[in-house]
Amino acid sequence: MDNQKIHMNGGDGPKSYAKNSEFQKQLVGYSKKLIDELIDQQLDVGINPHFDPCNPFRIADFGCSIGRNTYLAAQNIIEAVEQKYKSNEEDQENPQLVPEFLMFFNDLVQNDFNTLFNYIDSNKPNYFIAGVPGSFHGRVFPKAFLHFAHSSTALLYLSRIPEKVMDRKSAAWNKGRIHYSCSGAAKEVEAAYSNQFRKDVESFLDARAEELVPGGLMVIITLGLLEGVLASECAMGVTFSIIGSCLHDMANMGTVSEEKLDSFNLPYYYTSQMELETLIKAHGCFDIARFEKLPSPLRQVVHDVQTVILSIRVVTEALFEQHFGKDITEELFRRCAEKFESHPVIYDDKYRTEASYFVFLKRKTKTSKSGTYVGS
Ligand SMILES: C[S@@+](CC[C@H](N)C(=O)[O-])C[C@H]1O[C@@H](n2cnc3c(N)ncnc32)[C@H](O)[C@@H]1O
Repeated sequence: MDNQKIHMNGGDGPKSYAKNSEFQKQLVGYSKKLIDELIDQQLDVGINPHFDPCNPFRIADFGCSIGRNTYLAAQNIIEAVEQKYKSNEEDQENPQLVPEFLMFFNDLVQNDFNTLFNYIDSNKPNYFIAGVPGSFHGRVFPKAFLHFAHSSTALLYLSRIPEKVMDRKSAAWNKGRIHYSCSGAAKEVEAAYSNQFRKDVESFLDARAEELVPGGLMVIITLGLLEGVLASECAMGVTFSIIGSCLHDMANMGTVSEEKLDSFNLPYYYTSQMELETLIKAHGCFDIARFEKLPSPLRQVVHDVQTVILSIRVVTEALFEQHFGKDITEELFRRCAEKFESHPVIYDDKYRTEASYFVFLKRKTKTSKSGTYVGS
């Protein structure tokens, strides 16, 4: 991650990601039924030698972060895979054992892995665990090593802010705004973000195509927009516009410099179904077994302004601190809470046009994009 501290708030205190990630937990929960169904359909147990139960079944969660969500996702996958191996055991001609499981938790090096591992005891897992630090935009595992890859609400993080967005001479300069979804942002800003997302998805898929065994499976859950919806007209755009306006107020009062404000942008991209599907098909190493919109967690988790502010704070605070300094965040989020109280727009159904997408992919078995990989 180029110079950006995008990690979630660590620890397990009241302002930690671990204690304020109900939104992300809902998505992991919604995906369970789909994971059960698709593992049953797509996992080539008894057919593909890569899934020999004598070897450990290796799973990785990319962008695992900190807290119980990580273990919930792991448990969902392991239960479905166990079930698949057990159902094959009933085939007496071709009896299968259930493999041992090795679960890898991947995130950036700044992730609070210690707190993540502190959650192990209460979960008493029946699998082995290892942490794997490093960016998922590159390789973090050996070739043809993983059987299953999972990534929930992490692919939307860009590896960098596109240069044009911070270039005063460019039509994509996002002066005074903190994201392409903020009201009034030029369309060139969104195009620059979209272009960076394309590069990042390609590098993510390149790395996973190498790491997964032929026939290996992958689940991606990412946040996006419904087709044709303007980013500025959904809850996320409205939220970022409000945060941006608080920073403006602080710039007017001299608490933050205007120059700092002009050079700050949030590294998130909200894709559409068509955009992500096109990128996966163009990449060529994966078949899409399912692409589905999940229910909106916002309806479940938006209860009051403090909950909303905390859930935003735990994912963005490190970015604001790094750019503007530690001293401003308390005031920034207090001001945001005040504005949210007086304009409770995100409670309004008309802004709930965001979409969460569930994608289930299968690594093709014959060729890789680079042609260097030997499939089965
Ligand atoms: C919103 S959290 C989601 C965490 C978890 N999957 C969940 O469902 O609760 C996104 C995580 O992705 C991680 N992340 C973002 N970019 C990454 C990258 N390039 N490589 C590895 N992890 C990354 C962040 O550090 C963060 O912990």
